[in-house]
Amino acid sequence: MATKTLIVKNLKTYYKTRLKEKVCAVDDISLELEEGRVLGIAGESGCGKSTLALSLMGFYFPPLNFKSGTIEVEGVDIMKLPYEKLRTDYLGTKIAYIPQAAMNALNPTLRISSFVLDVLREHRPDLTKEQMLNLAREKFEFLHLPERVLSAYPNELSGGMKQRTVIALSSMLNPKVLIADEPSSALDVTSQKIVIAMLKKMMDDQFVKSMIFITHELPLLRHVADDIVIMYAGEFVEKGTAEEVIFDPIHPYSHALMASIIVPEEEMKSKKLCAIPGAPPNLKNVPPGCRFADRCSFAEERCKKEFERIPLIHFGNGRYSRCIFSESELREKYAKKAAKQHSENDYE
Ligand SMILES: Nc1ncnc2c1ncn2[C@@H]1O[C@H](COP(=O)(O)OP(=O)(O)O)[C@@H](O)[C@H]1O
Ligand SMILES: [Mg+2]
Repeated sequence: MATKTLIVKNLKTYYKTRLKEKVCAVDDISLELEEGRVLGIAGESGCGKSTLALSLMGFYFPPLNFKSGTIEVEGVDIMKLPYEKLRTDYLGTKIAYIPQAAMNALNPTLRISSFVLDVLREHRPDLTKEQMLNLAREKFEFLHLPERVLSAYPNELSGGMKQRTVIALSSMLNPKVLIADEPSSALDVTSQKIVIAMLKKMMDDQFVKSMIFITHELPLLRHVADDIVIMYAGEFVEKGTAEEVIFDPIHPYSHALMASIIVPEEEMKSKKLCAIPGAPPNLKNVPPGCRFADRCSFAEERCKKEFERIPLIHFGNGRYSRCIFSESELREKYAKKAAKQHSENDYE
């Protein structure tokens, strides 16, 4: 059986604002990650992806607070560890994190080699400075980063190169779990491809044992993820393999997300682009029942009335959806909607 690198159960975390309001951005999240696999997490901006990443790292500093749940890294619940132990024995070594827009947060007055030495002095004090730099040279070479990067200042590097450097730094200690938060979102298409190829190489060569790849661009996950979860308003609403979720989504939100994505010109001719109406609910005060109901074209009164909260239902084979309609009911609804759109197109 494959080794599980990360097991998260019923994680709830929230921000406490200055007005003492609670923003529940991670609301009862459970997930499992296996060695050799990449889990993609997708959803609109503000749904809680970055908060989930911070929460998984045990970074609970005001205004972010832990409420309940467990985060097991290699069988140890990191929430039970003293912070010092978490910092020295887990962060960066067992579980590492590339924050969203990390490349813009590098101190511009330091050379890249200083960041390398910082990481290695903390975790590999047994090495001499020269050994540390050699280790970095080897790693950079392996990841096709030119050696000159080590002596450069961040602002001397292009966006793509800076992001690749940040990724190399975060994987310096060969973590068991790497959480990459929108690692390619701010880049041009060519740099995006290079960054994704680099992350895949790190997985293939087992520098990194497993990965969570966070993005607001669901189709991108096709090139990198094995499994996908879709997040909406602090909850997971669908889980499945990358193929299933992208090409055959079940939950109305995933379905709407795929329909709202702009595709290349050629494909555009046969695709009707449908923006998702409205906006996600305010996480300070989420409505009862289905959180997507107000924007869902299939919603009925009972979606909001029958349940305090809609459960995540297992359809078998690791496929989950958080909707009161069964899979067959939803498929029927999608088929009807597609037929209607098709006939409307005939009149256009
Ligand atoms: N420091 C903060 N204080 C209060 N609320 C926050 C803070 N950071 C993020 N939020 C809120 O938490 C929710 C989730 O944000 P975030 O995790 O950044 O979403 P995503 O990464 O999916 O765009 C949003 O409603 C956002 O406004
Ligand atoms: Mg984010």
